[in-house]
Amino acid sequence: MEEKGAENGVAAMAACYQGFDPAAYLQYNYTPPRADFERKDSIVPWKLACLHKAFTEGDVSGELLVDIGSGPTLYQVMSGCEVFNKVLLTDFLEVNRQELRRWLQDEGGCSLDWTPFLQHVCKLEGRRPSAWTEKAAKLRQVIMDIVTIDVHCPQPLALDALPSAGADCLVSCFCLESVSPDLAAFTRALGHIGRLLRPGGHLLLIGALGESYYFGGPGVKIPVVPLNEAQVCASLKESGYTLIRLEVYTLPQDMRVGVDDVSGVFFVKAMKE
Ligand SMILES: C[S@@+](CC[C@H](N)C(=O)[O-])C[C@H]1O[C@@H](n2cnc3c(N)ncnc32)[C@H](O)[C@@H]1O
Repeated sequence: MEEKGAENGVAAMAACYQGFDPAAYLQYNYTPPRADFERKDSIVPWKLACLHKAFTEGDVSGELLVDIGSGPTLYQVMSGCEVFNKVLLTDFLEVNRQELRRWLQDEGGCSLDWTPFLQHVCKLEGRRPSAWTEKAAKLRQVIMDIVTIDVHCPQPLALDALPSAGADCLVSCFCLESVSPDLAAFTRALGHIGRLLRPGGHLLLIGALGESYYFGGPGVKIPVVPLNEAQVCASLKESGYTLIRLEVYTLPQDMRVGVDDVSGVFFVKAMKE
């Protein structure tokens, strides 16, 4: 009975995603004020700074980085592509995988220009902003594939998608809480993706705090599990991760632009036990 309820919840979430509109989602979340590189308190520069720091502390290393629930976005692997020789992008929806493929193939038709993001990450790395073309080339070179994922499956990727040892690092941004019907499903999904990671490998997790919905397109209201910091920490522990660091960003009033009811963002660096 309980199992049936969980299955229904997951199926209802999948149905909500059928209306997801990559171009609208990018417009809502990856243009100013949320992506304003002139402002220190803008949300995207905060996320990029967290990722830059996590990838350059020296403890995160290996061959393969997997991004869980990439959506139509690339910012989350712009630091990691300098550390890992192979990056695997993943998403549940073909429309998002197509958006990523358009950027990868570099033949135009992308819904967002990632140049300012690449320039900003170059600056964080102490390079001149004009080095962004080299970073774009590097990113295109290391992305090995863009594949289907379902974090609600105990085996979220196709069996042959990863080497048997697993990934050395996972990054995942705003995915698990916005695809899960409740906290129990969020915790289970954390466990499922952990099976893709080698023991001792790192998880870099970014997510929404206190969010109950977001718009994935005009009129496409997607429910979200409202999380607090204590719940994130407890779920990580239950799913076999050791927390290294948790950082929190509180949204300034003018960053609350009516496309969701998020109140904050968490960044977690953790290690699989
Ligand atoms: C809020 S978006 C996050 C996108 C991107 N990572 C970002 O930082 O903006 C959530 C993503 O989860 C994907 N998704 C939906 N259901 C999923 C599932 N069952 N397993 C994995 N990803 C899923 C959606 O297609 C969407 O791209």
